[in-house]
Amino acid sequence: MTAPGERTAAWRARAGSFGPVAAAYAALRPGYPSEAVAFVLGERPRRVLDLGAGTGLLTRALLAAGHEVVAVDPSAEMLAQLGSRFPDVPTRVGTAEQIPLPDRDVDAVVAGQAAHWFDIGPAARELRRVLRPGGVVGLIWNTRDRRVPWVGALDELLSGEIRDHAADQTVVDAFAHLLGTGDDCAESAVVQAVSPAEVVGGIGTRSYVATMDAAARETLLGRVAALLETHPDTRGRELLELPYVTVAHRLAPG
Ligand SMILES: C[S@@+](CC[C@H](N)C(=O)[O-])C[C@H]1O[C@@H](n2cnc3c(N)ncnc32)[C@H](O)[C@@H]1O
Repeated sequence: MTAPGERTAAWRARAGSFGPVAAAYAALRPGYPSEAVAFVLGERPRRVLDLGAGTGLLTRALLAAGHEVVAVDPSAEMLAQLGSRFPDVPTRVGTAEQIPLPDRDVDAVVAGQAAHWFDIGPAARELRRVLRPGGVVGLIWNTRDRRVPWVGALDELLSGEIRDHAADQTVVDAFAHLLGTGDDCAESAVVQAVSPAEVVGGIGTRSYVATMDAAARETLLGRVAALLETHPDTRGRELLELPYVTVAHRLAPG
């Protein structure tokens, strides 16, 4: 695993891999439970920066909870998808390390499935700069629930996927240290109703798959399709319930 803050060429390629798969990403990745948003932000509407907002899957949950959202992402293609779904949400191309917002502009910064791409030192400085006094940071990840047998078998097949809760926790700990805060965290769940083909397509949007050469990608996705065709819990089913565990971390910088 790449240590937080360590930046390799392969890591950069993966962080930048989302643009070409933006449309598939928007259609095939899971959303976020309202409980995770409420845990991080509370019930009162706030002005929230969705950092690494991508196609707006977390933005959707933030808007549903009544928050005012500004979305930042390095990928113009991902933000174009977000803009087509939520035309009233202002979007800015930018990064966590150089957030294109003024000082003390937001009550909260949230990142869904994105903080492991940030360069933690510069990003923590930027979070402090854009947050208003009393502001909070929410770092949220969905991870496939491998306790379900067919999902466990899928995860075994995808052992090349290098991030999991332990890796996420390392990122959270590093942010908490630099922001001088503890880490409150809460678990919730989300289930995606998807066809077997959509499961395969969603895996194709994972950064480590999107950056494979075409032959390797085809081989891996073929193995995923074969698993779904043969596993006793998925064989012959047109619609599957793909479960995720959502872990939300709330950091309140002093
Ligand atoms: C896995 S996607 C998550 C998108 C969205 N938040 C969601 O929940 O679906 C990760 C996003 O992080 C963005 N990203 C990568 N490096 C970043 C950085 N240094 N600063 C901000 N965003 C970054 C990518 O462009 C991509 O849109």
